[in-house]
Amino acid sequence: MISTLEEGRSRGLGLDGFRYHQGALHAEEVSLEHIAGAVGTPVYVYSAAAVRASFERLHRAFAPLSAELHFAVKSCPNLHVCRLIRSLGGGMDVVSGGEMERAWLAGTPMRDIVFAGVAKTEDEVKAALDGRFSPVAAAAGHFGRGDAGERGPVGMFNVESESELALIARVTGDLGVPARACIRVNPDVDAKTHEYTTTGLEENKFGIYADRVPALFDAYAEHPQVELAGLHVHIGSPVNQVQPYVDTVRVILRLLDRLEGAGHRPSVLDLGGGWPVDYHQGEAPRVEDYAAALVPLLADRVRRGLHVLLEPGRSIMANSGVLVTRVQHLKQGRQKRFLMCDAGMHTLIRPALYRAFHFIWPVRPPAGHLSPERRERPDLPDLVDCDVVGPICETGDFLARGRPLPEVAQGDLLAIFSAGAYGVSMASNYNDHGRPAEVLVDGSKATVIAERQPLAGLLETERRPRELQLAKESGTA
Ligand code: LLP
Repeated sequence: MISTLEEGRSRGLGLDGFRYHQGALHAEEVSLEHIAGAVGTPVYVYSAAAVRASFERLHRAFAPLSAELHFAVKSCPNLHVCRLIRSLGGGMDVVSGGEMERAWLAGTPMRDIVFAGVAKTEDEVKAALDGRFSPVAAAAGHFGRGDAGERGPVGMFNVESESELALIARVTGDLGVPARACIRVNPDVDAKTHEYTTTGLEENKFGIYADRVPALFDAYAEHPQVELAGLHVHIGSPVNQVQPYVDTVRVILRLLDRLEGAGHRPSVLDLGGGWPVDYHQGEAPRVEDYAAALVPLLADRVRRGLHVLLEPGRSIMANSGVLVTRVQHLKQGRQKRFLMCDAGMHTLIRPALYRAFHFIWPVRPPAGHLSPERRERPDLPDLVDCDVVGPICETGDFLARGRPLPEVAQGDLLAIFSAGAYGVSMASNYNDHGRPAEVLVDGSKATVIAERQPLAGLLETERRPRELQLAKESGTA
């Protein structure tokens, strides 16, 4: 039995906890065929060892800045994944009230949660400051959590607009609870990633322009309840080059100087996420390359007391998970071959939405086709170009197009690699499919950490229609 990730790496699959053993793909020591047999497909399978390894690696790379990692919950929100990351010492980065409750239910103290998000509602801000407003207060015991009313305020708001800051200030006054906040800066830097996931350009909806920030620090300097603790920035995801981070940090350093010159004492810098991973083998710079460029820029400020946070999601989870799907039907079209699978855009939307590449390979490939390089056209004989598609009634429902694959038969399992981040979190119920099951493997142990969503669950909110009792309109003739 293969026992180390190192061995997997030498087989060309990357440090991801997944490798071929006795002809079939395994997550650590557990066969994916066995998991699919036990829980059905589609199923997301995560490797705890891979999660630990990537968390530790990021942590080590940025240790010279004593950077604190806050896991971007949106990348893989499962409570048990959050708990695993929590056990490694991670705080949580959330972008909605829902994610905040999840992070708290997973055992994160509120002080270790940072709350970003561009359209925070008053209800979300209230729950972030005072657990009595938590929408899950009644169910907390169910998850082993105590009284939400006692939990205290969130550690940090990452504020995206002046209007949001005004809302937070008002709610702190109403509730008599103080708030800490970082201003999310829009540095107008191009992260050179997909236009849908570019967040640091002036034209994007995120953050506040750097030249507006000093006035806000001035305006809130004497505020009795709101402490502006520092700055937040997140320029996009994934950021496949080091330079945009360097440019961003330079903008931030200039701004910190300006704030200090005006008598302010910003003590927190949250650098966001966006650290890339290998979807294609060897594609992304290493996290150590980013650290090598950023540490020298920030080390002096850290020595003078600046506290650095990072919000990684993809870099921890993407290669810590695979999606396993079963080929339901084969169809040889006139122009191409289709593999019709039970996973599709409702299970993993990244290919349809961003044209993202995910390496796909049979869980039990034919002899001589083990351990391929993870790239679009592996250098192996007898491959046939296939469209790997799902069951959804849209032509945009594909996992890969024109992808060379070895011989695949009806009923075979395929593994879709690098699916641990923004996989299940972006899954939908389109065409009335339940959300997929999730399994966490740790060594030889496999745990179902999310059951497949049953159809009854989808129908529940529609069970009892009720007539709205609307207030009578007044003032109409
Ligand atoms: N912090 C903030 C404020 C963010 O908006 C994000 C991601 C992160 C941290 C984490 O970034 P990461 O380390 O995971 O790259 N659905 C897209 C990715 C969207 C990312 C949104 N924000 C995808 O599938 O590629």
